[in-house]
Amino acid sequence: MKLPSHLTIQNGHLHIAGHDCVSLAETYGTPLYVTSEDRIRDRFRNYHQALSSRYSQIQVLFAAKANGNLAIMRVLAQLGAGADVFSSGELLLALEAGMPAKKLLYNGSSKTKNDLALAVQHGVKISVDSLDELHQLDGVARKAGKIAEISFRVNPALEVPTHPKIATGLATSKFGIPYDRIPAAYKEALSCKNVKPVGIHCHIGSQILEVEPFARAAEVMVRIACELSGLGVNLEFLDLGGGLGIPYHHDSDPAPTPEDYANAVMPVFLAGIKAAGITPELWIEPGRFLVADSTLLLTRVNSVKSAHKRFANVDAGFNLLIRPAMYDAYHEVIVANHADAPLITEYTVTGPICETGDILAADRKLPELASGDLIAVLDAGAYGYAMSSQYNGRPRCPEVLVHGNEVALMRRGETLADLTCSMVRPPWQQ
Ligand code: LLP
Repeated sequence: MKLPSHLTIQNGHLHIAGHDCVSLAETYGTPLYVTSEDRIRDRFRNYHQALSSRYSQIQVLFAAKANGNLAIMRVLAQLGAGADVFSSGELLLALEAGMPAKKLLYNGSSKTKNDLALAVQHGVKISVDSLDELHQLDGVARKAGKIAEISFRVNPALEVPTHPKIATGLATSKFGIPYDRIPAAYKEALSCKNVKPVGIHCHIGSQILEVEPFARAAEVMVRIACELSGLGVNLEFLDLGGGLGIPYHHDSDPAPTPEDYANAVMPVFLAGIKAAGITPELWIEPGRFLVADSTLLLTRVNSVKSAHKRFANVDAGFNLLIRPAMYDAYHEVIVANHADAPLITEYTVTGPICETGDILAADRKLPELASGDLIAVLDAGAYGYAMSSQYNGRPRCPEVLVHGNEVALMRRGETLADLTCSMVRPPWQQ
């Protein structure tokens, strides 16, 4: 199997950024999320460079939903990233990680007045998803004595090659305002006293392995931008969202690079803004591309079983990585303690959750397995821990970060006490 440069096999053991996964699992226990900080740095630089070599005003906003660990967000903050935040919680995480408010965009189709007030209080720009929200925001900003800077989320009505649950720019999707109603929305915003339109935003979907759909989205966006400048809207930024996918099937998926993305998108963007006579910053919101492959989920085999097929029952399930169960997603698995052994037996790797769908990897050729073996689930850094739960009364596992020769916890494992710590006893049960 093709491995990215930070994953190597030495003496039969899988290593991440030079650290032996077998030792990490012994030290910290399993299940365990392990992330290479240096890999994230490389991915960010690579993405930023591809765009900034073609246009000087680039702002990368990390999609905080992909991985909300502060240690990871801090790394991205240091590199100059801002964030796409989708809740008050993500907004506070981004600020805490050291991202300046001016580099944040508060997205979302269903914000409360309190969410809007928090963004206004911190001077965070808001991507407005409906006219109803626009008027609510105008009221919230008036009350606070502030002017809220906004973009509108455009629904460009684009079909994209990805799982239907993560295509977000379809005409039928819940996100954004239909592209043909966008100019009217800006006119409406211009008439609001406490709102100032400064940007325009779209996001067409996630895990997209072709670059052409991004170019089509850019086309729609620059066309609208041109119309808006005629209306007197001064666009300071044009945000094309995230969505560049990664090759979860290491040997067969296409692996578009940021260079490929830039080659497809930048000519459209540059020609479009020239035609419109504007020079907005170009914002993009990658999540998965920056963090997915930096991280392994290490999980121990509890038992093996031969039934109608062979099962390897491991200690992590969809409580910790829901992507396979939720999107039929594929993640490569490697037996970390026999990483160079021949792949001779087919196993289905199943978690400890009481659901038939709790399968991490189906029908994979692996070395012969026994209880105690260590399995690494690859590409688990995006929407992995971030979507975890305590389902079935399972405390979440720890996360560790490796950087150069160093290793440290970046989140402790939850304990059984964490299962009950937020529960309160109703008075009649005292
Ligand atoms: N910007 C907005 C407004 C988004 O909604 C998203 C992702 C992103 C940026 C980042 O997209 P990325 O670059 O990561 O593809 N849980 C699903 C993915 C959901 C994505 C939701 N929005 C999964 O595990 O595949």
